[in-house]
Order: sequence, then structure tokens, then C-alpha cells
Amino acid sequence: MLTERLSVYDVNKDSEALLRAAEIIKNGGLVAMPTETVYGLAANTFNEKAIGDIFKAKGRPQDNPLIVHVSDIGMAKELVSEFPEKAEELAEKFWPGPFTMILPKADCIPSSVSAGLETVAIRMPSNEVARQLIAVSGLPLAAPSANISGSPSPTTAEDVLFDMDGKIDAVIMSGRCDVGVESTVVTLATDPPRLLRPGGVTLEQLRDVLPDIVVDKAVLSQPGKGCVVASPGMKYKHYSPKARVVMLEGDFESFKTFVEANKDEGVFALVFDGEEAELSVPCVSFGHKEDEFEQAAVLFKALRELDKLGCKVCYSRVPSKCGVGLAVYNRLIRAAAFEVIEL
Ligand code: TXA
Ligand code: MG
Repeated sequence: MLTERLSVYDVNKDSEALLRAAEIIKNGGLVAMPTETVYGLAANTFNEKAIGDIFKAKGRPQDNPLIVHVSDIGMAKELVSEFPEKAEELAEKFWPGPFTMILPKADCIPSSVSAGLETVAIRMPSNEVARQLIAVSGLPLAAPSANISGSPSPTTAEDVLFDMDGKIDAVIMSGRCDVGVESTVVTLATDPPRLLRPGGVTLEQLRDVLPDIVVDKAVLSQPGKGCVVASPGMKYKHYSPKARVVMLEGDFESFKTFVEANKDEGVFALVFDGEEAELSVPCVSFGHKEDEFEQAAVLFKALRELDKLGCKVCYSRVPSKCGVGLAVYNRLIRAAAFEVIEL
């Protein structure tokens, strides 16, 4: 299949390319679209064949449900069987934006989208191109991240093409994603509400609206074998480069000592900006130590870069768990398949 490249940087000036993308969606095709978090692989939520094609293109396990993207609140309400007061408050505060709510699903949601669950995940992206594509299609769009299942999520159209060229109908070329990690996922289908995946909207921000929110165990630790997890996506090894990633918990001096002692062919270090100069192994950096937003924005790019450079083993610095740092930590520990060494 030839994957069309559709450049949409400005929703007004590039309206022709946007209309073409909407036409592909309406005809049951797959279009990779930019969002403020990561690129998503979008299809018509109500077209079961197209939904099946998303799972095929990504190699995604069938039991991992998709997020449905909407362009306005009215569209969101049609997808659920109830929209409680707390959902209104959360929508008011965090939509459009990197925030996904899980609510009891309406009958119109195909079970392939919800992976057989009685709930559905909904998000209104703040990226203008994404919202306009949804509005012009007139359809809620089911969209997982536009990567091969398990690999780091794509934050540029080039990353999408690296994984998906020839497998999907079109890619909207639209520059780099601002946030860089996927949306925060909260379920309101449990009491108390539960944070299933940290993201651009922080736990601290959520507590203002949901003082009783709890953090799912799977956010920071490895679900046990055969465990039932609230968010099926959390049980898979995820976001991983081909290289083995090992997180080294400790200060920079002990990190340096460990890395230098384990120096070998194919050994790399994933470090904070400025630390490269102190190490004799090849380094990839993922932002400043104190800047969680920057770390989020560059982490997936850095993980992809390691593979391109031929890294076999990568020793990584550990980000803070504050604010957006919690999301960075959550993605990195999955990339490391939970391999952490305390120095
Ligand atoms: O930022 C994002 O959320 C991006 C962009 C494209 O919007 N999308 C994204 O989708 O990250 P995906 O499929 O890569 O991750 C969706 C996560 C998975 O961990 C999945 O298990 C969880 O949301 N999820 C979806 N529906 C769910 C449900 N009904 N109950 C529990 N977890 C759900
Ligand atoms: Mg994903």
C-alpha cells in the first residue's frame, strides 16, 4: 500500500489536505494524525473493519482497548451511558488537552474498540489539526499511538513513517508533538477514581478536582504474572527500544563509576543534558535534570535514537517523579522492563 503524505501545518491554509484525510477516514481507511501528546493512528470508531485494521497495522494485542477522540463535549456524551458531575468538571478543566477519561460505554461503541470492556476511554485533544480532522470527518476517531506495538511512541511524522510506511493509508505531516508522552488516563468507572496512566495532566492537578483519586499499582511497579490490570495496556513491555535499558538509581558520581566499570561495545548512557562530557561511553541525552517538561518532550525520540545508533545496552539516569516527571518515570521503567539497579 502507498502511504499518502498529507502536509497540514495550518488548518485554514492546508484545508485541502485535511479534507483528503477526512475522506480517507470516512472511506474506512487509517490516517496517522498529530496530537499534542504523540501521533495517533486514527480510524472511524464505528467501522469495525477499520478498527480491526488498526490492531493489525500495530500488531496490537486484541485485549488492549483504544481511546476515542472527540472534537466537542456533545460528541463525548454520545459515547457514554452516563456523564457524571465529576466528568463535567474534569472536561471543563482539562479538555481540550492531554487527558483521557474512562466512563461506562454507550451501546454505539463497538466491543472491538473497548476490547470487550463495559467502559470507553475518551479524549478531546488540544492539537488543532486533530480536532479539525475529527470535526470535518464528523466522526469520533479511535486512535492508539501510531507506533508498532511495544516500540516507543512517535512524536514526529518521520517516526510514524519509520514504523508504518506502506501499512496505513496516510500520514498527516505536521511537525513535532509538544507534550511528547501520551495522555493522562483516569477511570471514573471505579470508586474512588483511579489514575491508570500518568501524562501531561499531573496527579497534583487532578487532586484539585478529585481529592480521593488513587494511583493504580501498575503505574510504578510491574504487574504480577496473570494479574488482572485495570488498564490492559499497562501489562505489556512498552515503549522499548531494541536495546536493553537498565535504570541506575543513585547520584551522578555513582552512575559514572558504574558505567565506566561496565564499559563495552554497544554500551550507551541515557543522561541529562550536560552530563555527556563526563562520560567516556557514547551518550544520548533526554533533557535537563530539573526540566520534566523537556524530558517528556524528548524521551521517546531519545529511545528511538539509541536503536539507530546501534546501542545494545543502555544505562539510564532516573527522572524525578514530580509533576510530568511521573509520566517520564512510568515510560522509562517500562522501556527498561522494570530493570532498576540501586547504586
Ligand atoms: O495521548 C494519547 O492518549 C495517545 C494519543 C494518540 O491520543 N493515545 C494513546 O493510545 O496513547 P494508546 O492506545 O497507545 O493507549 C491507550 C491506553 C492503553 O494503556 C489502554 O489500555 C488504555 O488507554 N485504555 C483504553 N481504554 C480503556 C478502558 N476502557 N479501560 C481501561 N484502560 C483503557
Ligand atoms: Mg501506545
